[in-house]
Amino acid sequence: MQWIFIVNYLSLHPGVGGDNLAFSDDFIYQLQLANPIDDVMKSYVNLIRRGRNFVCSCPFHSEKTPSCTIYLDTQSFYCFGCGAGGDVITFIRKIENLDYVEAIKLLAERAGLEVPSDKQGEQNARIKARILEINREAAAFFYKSLISDPSKSGLKYFASRGLAPQTIKKYGLGYADDSWDKLTKHLLSLKFKEDELVTAGVCLHKNGKTFDLFRNRAMFPIMDLRGNIIGFGGRILGDGTPKYLNTADTPVFKKSRNLFSLNFAKNSTSNRLILAEGYMDVIAINQAGFDNVVATLGTALTPEQARLISQYAKEVIIAYDSDGAGQKATTKAINLLSAVAVTTRIINMKGSKDPDEYIRKFGAARFKLLLDNSDGAINFELEKCKEGLDLSTDIGKVECLKRIVKVLSQIHNTLERDVYISKVARSYEVSAEVLKSQVENEISKTIRKEKKNSWKSIVTKPRFKDEINPEVSQYPRESKAEEGIIAYLLQHPDMVKRVLDCITPDHFVTSFNKRIFTVLCEKLNSSTNFTLSLLSDEFSDNEMGRITGIEAKHKDIFLTEQVVDDYIKILHDFKNNKLSDNINSDEDLLKLAKRLKNIK
Ligand code: GTP
Ligand code: MN
Repeated sequence: MQWIFIVNYLSLHPGVGGDNLAFSDDFIYQLQLANPIDDVMKSYVNLIRRGRNFVCSCPFHSEKTPSCTIYLDTQSFYCFGCGAGGDVITFIRKIENLDYVEAIKLLAERAGLEVPSDKQGEQNARIKARILEINREAAAFFYKSLISDPSKSGLKYFASRGLAPQTIKKYGLGYADDSWDKLTKHLLSLKFKEDELVTAGVCLHKNGKTFDLFRNRAMFPIMDLRGNIIGFGGRILGDGTPKYLNTADTPVFKKSRNLFSLNFAKNSTSNRLILAEGYMDVIAINQAGFDNVVATLGTALTPEQARLISQYAKEVIIAYDSDGAGQKATTKAINLLSAVAVTTRIINMKGSKDPDEYIRKFGAARFKLLLDNSDGAINFELEKCKEGLDLSTDIGKVECLKRIVKVLSQIHNTLERDVYISKVARSYEVSAEVLKSQVENEISKTIRKEKKNSWKSIVTKPRFKDEINPEVSQYPRESKAEEGIIAYLLQHPDMVKRVLDCITPDHFVTSFNKRIFTVLCEKLNSSTNFTLSLLSDEFSDNEMGRITGIEAKHKDIFLTEQVVDDYIKILHDFKNNKLSDNINSDEDLLKLAKRLKNIK
């Protein structure tokens, strides 16, 4: 019988009890038949046909050339760049940031399949839904307080910041007065439980009491792309610390993964985004007529946010504060965005500390000019070279040019580099030839340094740290054999009996591979239709990536019975502490010596 082998994701959580294994093998098999991996992936990434397969830019790490392959025969994906991989369930889990059960539900819904009930998953989904309800009620409460508070403190504050009533409404802004428990009492009266309020992050529990987290603050609800309120930022009215207080991470809120106002900006017709530092900047810019503005949530831009941005814009205008911290953060953002192929421009708000202040001082039209005249990232970095130097002196000029050489040496495109070299030469009145040779020197210096460093790391450290199977470096030969056997079973599921006649999980040396082998054999023995997805509730996303990687790396190698017998022999020999047939290298000899020493 010819096996339809579908690489499903072997996600083994050790110790997961039968309770969690709510889905039958049969259901998982149906589910993944109904969700072809290329069909699912193409709604997230651009797939390019390559022979029998597809490739795409990996959605899980930053890259400019596609290194992620989608295999139709095994219904799996694998990124040779970052090692992410798995079946369609793993993909959804990773890209939507869902747990196993949620991913299954999403895929079932997509394909119109009914989901068998699952206790744990239902409970997680229920908690999330409750938190969203709590947040919605809290936002409504803050808004009502804003409007109806007799002191009008909140309204006065927003008015003083120049916000129009429709802006307040659009962003659902609110007010938390200085009471300790008004919100808590209100939410309890709506039959929410205290521990739910704490989990949602709107209340604190201390010394046996539950009380409001946000007091005496202007409130900024944070929404996800679908418009759910996932958290809050609260600014102190007047002075006090902390100036801004944000909801801590909760089951529905990860501040490193969300951007303030992206729910509005995503609908903008502009193909570029404005990136600001704070809530008030975003709201001021939006009110001034630019709906394509977002901000991070009280932290520096994260790689995840950069990737999120790259899904919506090819170009970002960075409008950070004009102070030192803002400028430092700008350089960091330029680098993170360039890593995901998003180009950056930087606005220069001379005379104002941030966009909010700039707009209030000079108006929307001037701000538009600022956007139009924003400078490319290279000019921004070149301009920064002048900082703290007196260019009217020779010393200052030389120091500045030294810094400039460093900046220019980082431009990869030679034509672009030449353009900037000529420009700098003109404005600093130096010879372009000399400048160019300096830059080229700097480039070769960097390359030499990198080579030296990589050589150093090869001789001093293990080549890379393997987080998933840390025993690989200790047992390179044995783990290679183990992977070969696993790949063979994945390619020839019908050979499981024959393999098990020769070898048991006990022969496996590295514990991660042993776990794969154990589960794989179990599934192959018990299911008539094997797919990788049958492993997916037992292994984490990263582990699934490794399993798919083992599969992918052996794809073009025709594993014969002979080859597998050799692998099996390696493991037998190891178990018997026997010398492997031949010692091929000093390394083998050393290992043998070590092993013998250990036996002693
Ligand atoms: P305003 O004074 O209201 O105009 O604030 P701003 O937006 O000018 O604030 P600032 O430049 O001080 O900070 C920018 C962003 O950093 C804010 O929007 C917050 O997201 C974050 N931030 C500032 N202060 C704090 C703080 O004390 N705690 C936290 N968690 N975040 C802060
Ligand atoms: Mn400000």
